[in-house]
Amino acid sequence: MSIPIKNAEGIRRMRESCAIAANVLARMKEQVRPGITTYDLDQIGREIIASYGARSACYGYKLHNSAYPAYTCLSVNEEVVHGIGSLKRILRPGDIVSLDVVVEYNGYIGDNATTVPVGPIEPRVAELLRVSEEALYLGIKQATVGNRIGDISAAVQAHVERAGFSVVREMVGHGVGRAMHEEPQIPNFGRRNSGDRIKPGMTLAIEPMVNLGRYAVRTMSDHWTIVTSDGSPSAHFEHTVLTTDTGPEILTIPNPTTFSSSLSKS
Ligand code: MF3
Ligand code: CO
Repeated sequence: MSIPIKNAEGIRRMRESCAIAANVLARMKEQVRPGITTYDLDQIGREIIASYGARSACYGYKLHNSAYPAYTCLSVNEEVVHGIGSLKRILRPGDIVSLDVVVEYNGYIGDNATTVPVGPIEPRVAELLRVSEEALYLGIKQATVGNRIGDISAAVQAHVERAGFSVVREMVGHGVGRAMHEEPQIPNFGRRNSGDRIKPGMTLAIEPMVNLGRYAVRTMSDHWTIVTSDGSPSAHFEHTVLTTDTGPEILTIPNPTTFSSSLSKS
């Protein structure tokens, strides 16, 4: 068991799948508004993914005998991750919604997520989003060659807890590549200078899940949706990052021009 190191070809393909994942996420984000259902948002995601000639890595993904039934993960308010789009879930002003997009293209996977406000939101919830995104970038900053995975974890945890929020313990970030989940696990809590040593050519999905209240979560009866036990809102921000000798490089950056040919075909 070891952490996959991508060669030049693997890195090239990771760049492509991650750019697609980022473009899909950016375009879905534009569609978030009061009145839209999470089912419609998911269908928009399905169409955009198809327009790039990519495949949803979520659709059909199996976890304890259950196949994920949607194309993207859409999690509203107290839903932490893995929410399933539904015609009954109409977004309203004051809600927050996490969009998690995982695509496979040419054998490689790109994974990213963001949480967006629906209309005006409460100040403390706005702070939750700001702090969670900041924690993601502070974690990414630690993904330097010679550091350890625990340096990422500790940076995320410190920033979140300093603001009075809590990090989810039961789900973690992960290596990503040919498979959605590769080694290593990347918890959002932990000790500096612990865990695996970071080397060049790793592709890591760093993804803080942050609760406004306590960190405990539970799984809904749909077997997928994770919610906060105390019902408090939760945020989720994620990038896929390449580790290099000159520092971390975020691969999930939108780049509409790269795929203009596939776009114009659709
Ligand atoms: N970004 C999520 C993860 O890393 C995506 C899960 S997709 C699902 O686990 F299929 F499991 F829902
Ligand atoms: Co992920």
